[in-house]
Amino acid sequence: MEVNEIQQRALAEIEASKNLQQLDDLRVQYLGKKGEITAQLKTLGSMEPEQRKSFGQAVNATRDRINRAITARRETLEAAALEEKLLSERVDITLPGRGEQRGGLHPVTRVMERAIGIFNKLGFEVATGPEVEDDHYNFEALNFPPHHPARAMHDTFYFGDGRLLRTHTSPVQVRVMERSDPPYRIIAPGKVYRSDSDQTHTPMFHQIEGLLVGEGVSMADLKGVLHTFVNAFFERSLAMRFRPSYFPFTEPSAEVDIGWDKGDGSEPGWLEILGCGMVHPNVLRACDVDPEKYTGYAFGMGIERLAMLRYGVTDLRQFFENDLEFLRQFH
Ligand code: FA5
Ligand code: MG
Repeated sequence: MEVNEIQQRALAEIEASKNLQQLDDLRVQYLGKKGEITAQLKTLGSMEPEQRKSFGQAVNATRDRINRAITARRETLEAAALEEKLLSERVDITLPGRGEQRGGLHPVTRVMERAIGIFNKLGFEVATGPEVEDDHYNFEALNFPPHHPARAMHDTFYFGDGRLLRTHTSPVQVRVMERSDPPYRIIAPGKVYRSDSDQTHTPMFHQIEGLLVGEGVSMADLKGVLHTFVNAFFERSLAMRFRPSYFPFTEPSAEVDIGWDKGDGSEPGWLEILGCGMVHPNVLRACDVDPEKYTGYAFGMGIERLAMLRYGVTDLRQFFENDLEFLRQFH
């Protein structure tokens, strides 16, 4: 009778146990060394053989029954614990990500690459030269005599030891002509430096130099290639004018302006994008190119100026302030 009562109570408590610790306490309480069932088994010794047999069987059956109940309950509790753990560690794959920030090319780089691409299609190959130059390449070989007033047009950064930061990409013309024979058809993109800063000038900016030298090259070829470039670059027709100008290294010389709305409410005006002209015979001679046989044209365009016009930016200095809000617009 008592065994039955223990079994009923044990099974009910096992079923009601809430966690593995409680369950283990019950196992100890009933089946442990000092457990209630164990205590029952200890009474066997003092029984009559007949009684011992039937009572022994009953207690053993109860012990097995409780054991099975504990095992079953343990599995249930373990499964629940696992489920709870998985739930708490669940990753919600439907949550949006942390908004990865993608960078983009700088507008000046984009304009540079676009311009280079157009000239490549026109058959111009890229040539390069150093940004730290000397008087010979930046001025002398380009027909700037010493103390010539045209040097004042370039607000040059000097190192004080004869070296200087190139003020234009034109020295690459000289380097190309010095190291190879005509014909030439190159562009030279790169950084140039001048002590200069306002709405349309920065101390560092980019130019693309162009040089084409061959037999029978004329000013009409120059105008043709620049018109082709401007149309391809802007993809819309903008007012464009050739204005007579002066450079020591070209004759005749011109500058090209594009119609420009300053963005300050004033009347639309002109923005100079490049200087150009027919390569001066003195420059050809300085590079051992025969001016009786060869003629050529050259141009040097301002990349930031092209970027201003293409993107409607009214202050060139914005390109170099690294304001992300500004730069993101061009991605
Ligand atoms: C020259 O630099 C000549 N070397 C161009 C040239 C090449 C003429 C070959 C003939 C033959 P200029 O100083 O005008 O010329 O500059 C050329 C272009 O660079 C300008 O039209 C303008 O678009 C750009 N530029 C000049 N100074 C700045 C500046 N401080 N910031 C941004 N762009 C500038
Ligand atoms: Mg100029």
